[in-house]
Formats: sequence, structure tokens, C-alpha cells
Amino acid sequence: MNAEGRRLLSDLLPVLASVMESGTFIGGVEVDTFERRFARLHRVGHAVAVNSGTDALRLVLRGLGLPRGSVAITVANTFVATVGAVVSEGLRPLLVDVGDDENIDPEALRRAITPDTGVVIAVHLRGWPARVDVVRRICDEHGVPLVEDCAQAVGATAGGRPVGGFGVAGCFSLHPLKNLGACGDGGVVVTEDGGLAAELRLLRNHGLADRDTVVRWGENSRLDAVQAAMLNVKLRHLPAWNERRGELAAIYRERLAGLPIAPPPSGDDRTHVYHRFCVRTPGRDGLRAHLAAAGVETAVHYPVPIHQQPAAAGGGVLVADGGLPVTERQSREILSLPLHPALTSRQITYVAEQIHEYYDRLSTVAGMRHETGGHR
Ligand SMILES: Cc1ncc(COP(=O)(O)O)c(C=O)c1O
Repeated sequence: MNAEGRRLLSDLLPVLASVMESGTFIGGVEVDTFERRFARLHRVGHAVAVNSGTDALRLVLRGLGLPRGSVAITVANTFVATVGAVVSEGLRPLLVDVGDDENIDPEALRRAITPDTGVVIAVHLRGWPARVDVVRRICDEHGVPLVEDCAQAVGATAGGRPVGGFGVAGCFSLHPLKNLGACGDGGVVVTEDGGLAAELRLLRNHGLADRDTVVRWGENSRLDAVQAAMLNVKLRHLPAWNERRGELAAIYRERLAGLPIAPPPSGDDRTHVYHRFCVRTPGRDGLRAHLAAAGVETAVHYPVPIHQQPAAAGGGVLVADGGLPVTERQSREILSLPLHPALTSRQITYVAEQIHEYYDRLSTVAGMRHETGGHR
């Protein structure tokens, strides 16, 4: 653990002790405080804390009261939870293709949306906002609610506004690996709709309107006070952590410029919070093996798009006409490089140097082939 990690731990431990002393482990002041702060940060009226990002999506989909079998349009290059939530709520996922920014392609959405569409779920993948302004306009034209899957994008903005507030609800994961992570599972929904917020509060707590009155069939999906207390400490650090991610990403961008690698999207009025620093290159597997040999751990988010997963083989997952060629191509080219706020500039530079070395070697080998007339 580095010095900053130790400082954070020394801030967290007393908070943990105070929850223990209070004896309030479910709900209470820490959860209320977290919800209030999170809502303010997102410039919305309500935040409802739940047990996970998956539950945030599931309960919102249920809270919208869509007829069973309604179509939910979303994408195939996302963590399985986006589509899993749709299926588990008795809706039918219709997967559309993505654009060059790896997020939902608004034109693909426009072609796929019909009177059968019950909801659209836009995922802000890797911390880069989808084109929510355009997506929202298309949804509005068809009278379809927009839900944002913000699991990977806490703190990202589009047009100066935080993601999560563009649709009827924004769903966040607080999983430990996220930019704002609890010390266990957690999730939170933001919404401007007071009726939906009230419904979510019922659904997360067995549908209990009071101790003895069950007005809905709900479930247990509450955020623990211990988690909320730690999140209240961590929330203060979120802007600095996201900024640090941006600084490290800038080093990658500068050092990797000129190589046959597509950097993550940037520019226009959206801000990236770099949950992942994901590059694209047709020679992904060779580069990945080279980095592994140099002691650099990388990952692929996600190697198998949802419509190609074994679970989808049994049917039930619809794919837009024309298929998902961009999604499928990208799944073969994407590579997530190491990036989190605790890394140093030197570590990022080392990764970039290793990538240069890989391409230097490739061009040397290509040059030798050229001189000898190629391999047989
Ligand atoms: C895009 C996306 N949606 C939903 C989820 C689900 O969140 P959780 O793991 O908190 O259930 C995740 C978590 O990895 C995610 O990345």
C-alpha cells in the first residue's frame, strides 16, 4: 500500500468504528448522507442507494412498470449485467451496434426503435459518455424512457452536465473496482422523478410502506451503513482521483501517438473519466503477449460480445437488422492498459515504452522479410 492508500485507510477506520458504535447497520444517517451528496453531485432531486449496480438497473426497469416482454434496446459490448438485468426483469433485449467511440450508435438506435420499444439503456462504457443528447432526443421523439448505465462513468460529463441526469434514471455501480468503489458491493440510482424514487425505496425494502404493511412485492437490496460511511469518505476524493486518471491517460496519449493504435475517444463536449484506458489495434493478441512477458497486466473488456455468449444461444436476445459488425470487430481489437490513480507516471511511461518496443520489433521483422523476399 502506498502513502496515499495508508492515509485513506486512516480516514476510513475511525468511520468504520463509529458505525460499529452506533449499532445502525442498515439505513440510517450514513446512507441518507450518501444519497443526499450523490444527488447533489449529479444535480438531480433524488438518489436511492441499493445493493449493486445490477440491482440499480433491475429495480429501475421494474419501477418503470413496463409490460412484460417489452423490448429494451441496448448494446452488446457491455458488462453482462446491463443485458442480464433486462432478461431478469422479463423484458426482451434488442442489441444495436456501436459507433467508433464504442458506445451506442444513435443512427443504429434510430433504425431499431419501434412502437414495441419499452426502454432504451445507454451505457457510458469505460468512462466515456454515450451521445446522450442525441439518444435522448430520439427517445423523446418516440415517447420511450431513457435509462443510463453509468456503472463505469461516475463523474463523467456531457455538455458540462454529469451523466446520470439525462434520462429518467441513471444507474451506478459502487463495486470496489469502480472509480468510486465501496469495500464490497453497492449501487445507486439518480433520478429527477420523485415518484420513481419513492417506488425504488419500496422495491429495495420488500415493498414495505411501514414496518408491517407490504404494498408491493419487493426485495432486499439496501446499501449497508458501513459501505455508505466509507463511500462518504471516498466521495470527497473522487474529483482528484478522476483528475489523476486523466493525467495518466494524457501521458499514454502523448507517448503512444504515431503508433498504429487507436486511442480512447476524446474531444467535443464530453469528458472521459478513464475507468479504463482502452486502445484498439488489429494486432491486439501479439501486443498483449508482449506486454505480459514484460510484466504488464492488461485485460480485454469485453472479448465476447453479449449476443455471442453461450447464454444468448438459447434465444431471447434480439440483434438489430444487419447484425453488429462494428461491435464484433472492436471486440477483436480492444485492449485495456493499466490505469488507476495509484499508478505513477513512471509506470505508465514504462508500459508505453514496452508498446514502442513491440512495434519496433514488428517493423524490424517486417523489414527482414522484405529483404529476404518473405517467409515460406
Ligand atoms: C456497464 C456495467 N453495468 C452494470 C454493472 C453492474 O454493477 P455491479 O457489479 O455493481 O452489479 C457493471 C459492473 O461491472 C458495469 O460495468
